[in-house]
Amino acid sequence: MTITRVLGIETSCDETSASVVEYDGSTFSQRSLVILSQDVHRLFGGVVPEIASRQHLTALPPVVRAAIQEADADARCCDAIAVTHAPGLVGALLVGVHFAKALGLARGLPVVPVHHMEGHLFATALEHPDAVPPFTALLVSGGHTLLIDVPAWGEYRLLGRTRDDAAGEAFDKVAKLLGLPYPGGRPIEELARSGDPARFAFARPMLRRSQQPGDPDYYDLSFSGLKTAVLLAVRAAEAAGTLEEDRAHIARGFQDAVVDTLVAKTLRAARQHGRERVVLGGGVACNGALQAAMRRAAASIAVFAPAPRLATDNAAMIAAAGAFRFRAGTTVSPSFSAHASLPLPGMLDATADSGTRASSRR
Ligand code: KG4
Ligand code: ZN
Repeated sequence: MTITRVLGIETSCDETSASVVEYDGSTFSQRSLVILSQDVHRLFGGVVPEIASRQHLTALPPVVRAAIQEADADARCCDAIAVTHAPGLVGALLVGVHFAKALGLARGLPVVPVHHMEGHLFATALEHPDAVPPFTALLVSGGHTLLIDVPAWGEYRLLGRTRDDAAGEAFDKVAKLLGLPYPGGRPIEELARSGDPARFAFARPMLRRSQQPGDPDYYDLSFSGLKTAVLLAVRAAEAAGTLEEDRAHIARGFQDAVVDTLVAKTLRAARQHGRERVVLGGGVACNGALQAAMRRAAASIAVFAPAPRLATDNAAMIAAAGAFRFRAGTTVSPSFSAHASLPLPGMLDATADSGTRASSRR
């Protein structure tokens, strides 16, 4: 069995990452993974695109060198280079794309462009050999919220997505309202642990029992109304002088509403398409309450979630998706470029778009 070894490069947002992954046609194995997170954005409460690009520029060469060394790769390093080319901050993406092309030229290696969201679909397979198609995928992060049916690698059916804020964006905005640091997902999860679920029962966004398959809102999601409901609750608590004691209850009410909606829509998708596996991805997949609720509700369905290092942005998932694409013989023009938004490749439903990330998450 031939083994394909791929160097992955990821610079679509605020993580500079490189990784070497091997693929034998059925299983992925991670040989190295280096991730450098740009903490500077915390100062601004969101990612500043210009700063992100500049930091990638200085960080990428040593990060790639470290990933190659950690993998103990030979002089040639690998069979191909995979790089995220969309969607994301275009200046940040360009740094990775140009670096990958230059390295490919210098070492005589092919360069495979990878869609960032396709990368997230492969992340869990790096740890769990059973997290492979067919499955239902829920990708939830700071810039995207997608519900995808995956009958096979490279074949995707977009079932639903957010109509406004991404799930992680909602966590970040609500965290700000509650005076918590950015990014807000983990602080909300921690605060919610001491919250009473009965105190703030926010309406479950876009979730009604009467919804039927085929209804436009059967799978779609929305978080901006929930965010407004939280804002109103915060203002009322402020006016009543109870905000300090209510913060944990509000965090709990918000998280429960998000989790209930995500779980209900994911299980609708899995059941309607007869899938026995659910794969979670993206930063919000780190949320323990989401994972636990999904497992509780999905009795006969196996739920796979990646470890936090692979749930958030990383180059191992890009290398894995690139290795699949390389072995599948996907041909690309060497003049490919970076794009802020681009449909997921391999979409079975022609009308479906995907993965549009906000150009800035401030
Ligand atoms: O996938 P990711 O690292 O970056 C993007 O591509 O956006 O996701 C980051 C998002 C942030 O919005 C962050 O608040 C959220 O993931 N997040 C969480 C948790 N950990 C990170 N949301 C809820 N619960 C968590 N434990
Ligand atoms: Zn991502």
